[in-house]
Parts: sequence; C-alpha cells; structure tokens
Amino acid sequence: MSMKRFTFGTPEEFVPSKFCDGFNYVETGVSYPESRFSCKRTKQGFIVEFPIEDDCQIFGFGLQLKTFAHRSRKLRMDVNADPATGNGESHAPVPFFVTNKGYGMYFDTARYAEFYCGKQRNGDSLTLAEGGAAGDINSLYAARTETSAIMSVRIPCADGIDIYVIEGGSITDIVSQYNMLSGGGPVVPEWGFGMLYRAYYKWDSEKVKSVADYLRSSDIPCDIIGLEPGWQTHAYSCSFKWSDRYPDPDGFIAYLRERGFHINLWQHAFTHPEAEFHKEIAPYSGDWLVWGGLVPDFATPEGRKIFADYTRSYLVERGIDGFKLDECDSSDNTGGWSFPLISEFPSGLDGEQYHSLFGTLYIKTVMDALGDNITLSQVRNIGALAASYPFVLYSDLYDHRDFIRGVVNSGFSGIMWAPEFRSAHSKEECVRRMQTIVFSVQCLVNAWNYDGIPWVVHECEAEVRELLKLRETLKPRLMKAFKEYHETGRPPVRALVMDYTDDKETYGIDNEWLFCDDLLVAPIAAGTGDTREVYLPVASDWVDFFTGEPVKSGRFKVETRGIPVYRRV
Ligand code: GAL
Repeated sequence: MSMKRFTFGTPEEFVPSKFCDGFNYVETGVSYPESRFSCKRTKQGFIVEFPIEDDCQIFGFGLQLKTFAHRSRKLRMDVNADPATGNGESHAPVPFFVTNKGYGMYFDTARYAEFYCGKQRNGDSLTLAEGGAAGDINSLYAARTETSAIMSVRIPCADGIDIYVIEGGSITDIVSQYNMLSGGGPVVPEWGFGMLYRAYYKWDSEKVKSVADYLRSSDIPCDIIGLEPGWQTHAYSCSFKWSDRYPDPDGFIAYLRERGFHINLWQHAFTHPEAEFHKEIAPYSGDWLVWGGLVPDFATPEGRKIFADYTRSYLVERGIDGFKLDECDSSDNTGGWSFPLISEFPSGLDGEQYHSLFGTLYIKTVMDALGDNITLSQVRNIGALAASYPFVLYSDLYDHRDFIRGVVNSGFSGIMWAPEFRSAHSKEECVRRMQTIVFSVQCLVNAWNYDGIPWVVHECEAEVRELLKLRETLKPRLMKAFKEYHETGRPPVRALVMDYTDDKETYGIDNEWLFCDDLLVAPIAAGTGDTREVYLPVASDWVDFFTGEPVKSGRFKVETRGIPVYRRV
C-alpha cells in the first residue's frame, strides 16, 4: 500500500468521501513529492497543476464509452446519459485516473472537474518533440505529441481539494488500492451472475409467467426476471404502485419464485403525486421537479428513510430482491431532462453535487430497504468511491464497439458495466452480442422494448442456450473473482494495460479484457465479420480456453464464429 492525501486550500464539505460509509483511508506514504503540485484559487474555481512525464499514458475517469487512452485530451466529469463524444461526460464519470508511471490520483470532489491531460504552458522550459518538418508528410504531424506537458485540473466553485496519490507496481495494484478506499468490491449472490431477462414493458403478469415457463421448459438458464415501467400505474414520474397489468402481485411473485426466479423491478426516484409517500417526502426534496415528480434528497436521513421504508414494506418484503435504478444520471443530449445544476436540496447540496452523488445515494437508500438481502442490481449513475456497491451500470446507447470499450474502461474506476443485449437486426448480431454479455459481470438481456424473445425470432435458440450454459460454468470463477475484489480490491474485469503495465503493446487495446483471474476475452463486435486481431501479452503463456491448446503470445489474426477466449497458464 502506498497512498497519501494532499490537502490544498479548503476542500468543500460535500465530497464523495463524506458519503462513503466504508471510507478507509490509511496513510502509508508515497514517493511523489508535494512540490510537484502547484495550486491557485481563481474566478473560475480551484486549479491544480502538475507535470507529467513525456511518455505518461493516462487511463480511467469512470465509464468512458468513446475513448480509452486520455493523454492530451480534455475530460469534464459531467454526469450525462448517452455521451456523444469522448469529452468526459458519462453516466458515471469518476475523477480518478491512473498512469503507466506507477501512480494514480483521486480528486475527492462532486464538482464537474475538468482535466486537461497534458498541455504546454507558456514560460515553462520546453523540449520540442521530434518531427514537425514542413514538406515531409511523415514528420509533419509527429511533433504534435505534447512534450514537457502539464496536467491542469479545474474544480469549479471550490476553494480547495483533497487529492489522494496512490502508487503501485502495476495499474491493477493502484486501482486495487483505490477500490479498498471504499471498502473493496461488493459481496454478491451467485444467482446475480445468472442471466437477467428484462421483459417487454407492455407485457402483463400472465404473459411474463408464460415467458418464465418457456425459459424453464426450453432449458434456457435464467436466474432473474426484470419488469420494466409497465409494472407501475405511472412510470414517468414513478407512482411505485402495481398497475392493473399485475392485478395479483403476490401471486405473481410467488409463481416466479417457486420456479426459481429472482425478481428485479425497474424504477427511478422521481416521485409522482400519486405515490403513497409523496406528501411525506416533499419537504426532503429538491426545488425542481422532473416529469412532474419530486426529486427526493437522499442526502437527508429523513428523505432516505421515507423512501427506504416504503420500498422495504411494499416491495422487498413481498419478495423483490433486485432493482434497476434508472434515470439517475440526466441528459443534455436526449431531451434535456432532469433537474438543473442550479437546483438546491435541503441537505445543502446543489444540483451539480447532487448529480455527481445521486446514483450512489440512491443505491444506499435502496440497500437500506434490501437489508440483509444481498443482490446484484442495476443503476444508471454511480460516482467516485463506489466499488463496494453491488450495482452494475448500463446505457441506452447501443453501439457494440462502444459497449466493449465500456467493459474494458470500467475496470479502471471501481465501477461495473453491462454491455447489454437488447435486440438484434440479424442472427449474427444476436449471437455476437450474447457472446459479449456471457463474459461480463452481468449477463443482461434487456429486451424491455421487444415484443418477443429475440433469439426465437432470429432462429438461434440453440446457440444462445449453449452460450448461457457456458455462463453457468463461469459462475464459480466469478464468485472467486468477486471474493478477491472484496478482499483486495482487484476488479474482476481489467484492461490488459492494468496487469501488463510495462507492456507498451497494451496501451491502445480497448477491445480485449482480462476476466476473473485468468481469462482474456477478445470478442468480435457485431457486424465486423468473423475475424479480428488479438494481442496476447508476451509476459505470460496462454492456452485456448475452449480447446486447451497452447497459443503463442503476441499479435495474430483469428477467424471464428465463436468468441476468442484464452486462459493464462
Ligand atoms: C431507459 C432505460 C432502458 C429502459 C427504459 C424504460 O431509461 O435505459 O433500459 O428501462 O428506460 O423506459
């Protein structure tokens, strides 16, 4: 362990560490000198700057779907669903980055901090990069690598910041320490790793029961059935009451549970006037509405208790043991919904801070309701210091390549991501997407807007059954990896550069990941044919996961309708 908190100026009161129950900072010291930082308070906020090495690579910043290596980029920790570019906005931005130079830094802020990952400052001594000769096209752009670069971070509104510098031998080592700061990975039930089938939102209880029967009679492994907005009388905003599509909720729940299913319910926190606790929670809500609903302030003990008590007595005690906590991000990109950044909350948080903390506080509230029930659930926003929450992120975007990058990037920041399968245009897409979900933390079929069973429609039930049976065999491996995640902070999904930080070949690989202890997954994205290039790090020996045949490390092409997976020996 090598960790040290550097305090500059006067940090704000409402920061992620304040809301992290298991926050576990133990100073062990680092070799990184305080003198490398320079700080100032300006009209634009608190600025922290420090030099980065010329060959410094930068990774992390939460769920980044569009970009992988961040050197030279500007990223703003803006909570936004459906990010359109690689500018940092995300369902789950996290102000924590790691480098290939033996250190990472966590900025303890709920502000939309801006990170410039390598800029040159006028007045600093400068080594010019090689190249740049006009007239020679090979050299012309080579000099655009920023040498003698500074990392510049702006924390809006703040008068100071706590920065946690973490040092380690590999990025995995650094990230593991960051994850232990918030108590290590979550404790999860084995059933949480089974397939989660989210049913079409218009189906009623009889139809969902018949789908449950279909799954069992066709020998399709499935542990969880998820209901989407249609279970409630009002969903935008939420009434949290069973609709007449589900006239006998207890009978319905019993039917599914007797057949071995767990039940997960979709909801979001914006509270409809028809909700039973609407009046009670009103004084503990923000000053803006979303879809006509209140925004409960989960940073107040009262708001949290009212919401948790209702959820416990009305849902959990009736047999619900999972939730999908939707819409707790916000979006400037899709309709501009959610509360503004200038909102005020009774706890004293403002809208910007509440956006950064909303998912995490919502999770804590729902975990109060779940009590001793352990779960593997879903959420659409999560922030810093969140490793210990058993909630997996998802998105409405659907580019398969971005989803794969999301898996790879999630491992840098103590968050989990589901590259869900929703629907497909072809049999090929159906199988390719199913292959990917089988080798991720949550095996999520989110057919919420699909009036049918996708693999039946695309005539690939046999292939899908085989993949889901393979997933069943991975459960013990996942349980072991999560035990490790809990005890040491090592995430179950890791970019190659995390374990092989000294291997330059891994610095650009955003489409392969290490899975559990010993697997390397190199999925083929839907619509890209049957071939891809694979890189197996040369520092290890590998065998084909399916055949056990040795495979030479390095770069090579594979051609297969299956998913290339290798095992480290
Ligand atoms: C979206 C969510 C989808 C689905 C839908 C239902 O916000 O990402 O997965 O649940 O809501 O309205």
